[in-house]
Amino acid sequence: KAVYSCLILAVECDGHEILTIEGLSDGDKLDPIQQAFIEKDAFQCGFCTSGQIMSIKALLEKTTQPSSEDIRIAISGNLCRCGAYPGIVAAAEHAVNIYTKRRS
Ligand code: FES
Repeated sequence: KAVYSCLILAVECDGHEILTIEGLSDGDKLDPIQQAFIEKDAFQCGFCTSGQIMSIKALLEKTTQPSSEDIRIAISGNLCRCGAYPGIVAAAEHAVNIYTKRRS
């Protein structure tokens, strides 16, 4: 479940496992979503990127084949001041393809 760090108290996290962008990669091996963001050039300044990636990660934990609309809804709470949304959605769709190939 993705939550906004600015809207949750630390005490509310007590007893829960927390995954942040820093814990997403496996050493030097990036998560497919991180790799997809690089390959699709899905950011400009990068300020929103961590939140976008974690929102997409939470979405892909719930469904393996999200629609474009599912992706847009999942990232809807993360504002990108640079307007990189087309690249972000393309990266999410690319990440879905990477995950699908890994599973088959
Ligand atoms: Fe700059 Fe999203 S890439 S705010």
